[in-house]
Amino acid sequence: MPATPPFSTSPLPPPLLPSQPLTALAPMQDVTDLAFMRVIAHYGAPDYFFTEFFRVHAHSRPEKHILRSIDENTTGRPVFAQLIGEDLGHLTRTVAELLRHRIAGIDLNLGCPAPKVYKKNVGGGLLRDPTRVGEILAALRAAVPGLFTVKMRLGFDDTAHFDRLLDLINEHRVDLLSVHGRTVKEMYRSEVHYDFIARAAARVRCPVFANGNITSAARAVSVLAETRAAGVMLGRHAIRNPWIFRQCREQFAITHGASAPVGRVIPNPPPPISAADRRVKDHTPYPPAIFRPALADVREYVERLYRATQAPGLPERDHVNKMKKYLNFVGQSVDATGAFLHDMRRAESELNLFAICDRHLLSEPTRAFSSEPYPGVIARPNCETPIVVADGCSLETITA
Ligand SMILES: Cc1cc2nc3c(=O)[nH]c(=O)nc-3n(C[C@H](O)[C@H](O)[C@H](O)COP(=O)(O)O)c2cc1C
Repeated sequence: MPATPPFSTSPLPPPLLPSQPLTALAPMQDVTDLAFMRVIAHYGAPDYFFTEFFRVHAHSRPEKHILRSIDENTTGRPVFAQLIGEDLGHLTRTVAELLRHRIAGIDLNLGCPAPKVYKKNVGGGLLRDPTRVGEILAALRAAVPGLFTVKMRLGFDDTAHFDRLLDLINEHRVDLLSVHGRTVKEMYRSEVHYDFIARAAARVRCPVFANGNITSAARAVSVLAETRAAGVMLGRHAIRNPWIFRQCREQFAITHGASAPVGRVIPNPPPPISAADRRVKDHTPYPPAIFRPALADVREYVERLYRATQAPGLPERDHVNKMKKYLNFVGQSVDATGAFLHDMRRAESELNLFAICDRHLLSEPTRAFSSEPYPGVIARPNCETPIVVADGCSLETITA
């Protein structure tokens, strides 16, 4: 009789608030490193973190800078290690290596849409071949004694294999499934098909995270209602608005009736803005119980991000350019005309960058930072422009 494959009976790590829907920071290559996780945790941590992907191939060893986001993580929140690859032997070897670190579980990437990735039949490329997906899930399930999770898109060109893929998630006892509600070919800017996420949540036995264009706490609530997912996974909108996980908890407390212990969520809350200063204008009003950042708070975020992402040997000009990639997202909520984005993109030095930030963020410091991106204010270059050099999901190519 064939041996029953080992499977996890481990529960998911306890969330910050057990009675609320779960939240996670989406894995983002070149973004969700140790520095960024620390910055996000400062403003209000998600329940779970996911690393950017560890590349797995014949000569791979877990990348040291990604390991730091696990080994030196002091946020107090669990970190899942994401893998991208297709060779069973190398995947299981990498799992064995990663199990020596303090990971919450192993996550498999079945979604990266970069052509250089999918052409190697890894990431989103695997969604063309459910049989191969089944083999990989079986091998990983057998190799991972604890939590084994998957992050996937709806399919490659279309959704023809979607239900079969969901059945494989059940068959191989995946513990948590994150669904980015687009196909690989839809990249990052098409509408998100939340109806398919709802289909996943109804069909699989494990909890599902809804992912894709969840722009605000209010949107998180509506996506959860529409999909019946167990939680939300947020990526680009956490770069734009690092308070978003705190706001989700506060919003969930209103809609789900559980109180949000803000003190536990934010280890070092930013200095409060006085009631008089709260005369902020916003094109999307928040309920009063939800923290609403003002532009002065955003200025503080930019400073914190700059200091956190400073690295020995990183030339100032390169650091400024790296900051522009984060600020591309932040700028979507600063002003409706895109003036901050326009000026910020022209910064050439640290001094210059902060002078621009001061001009745009401190001339009206109490003006609201919009909870939603302003319509038509687009981070550029936009992600539908093919960039040949990109070999993964990177800030060079993906915007909003
Ligand atoms: C810069 C960037 C890098 C990304 N890198 C990864 C990655 O390493 N692994 C992964 O599964 N998804 C990656 N993604 C996809 C995100 O995890 C997420 O699925 C996608 O951005 C949609 O969610 P959002 O609309 O909340 O950003 C990346 C996205 C961005 C913007």
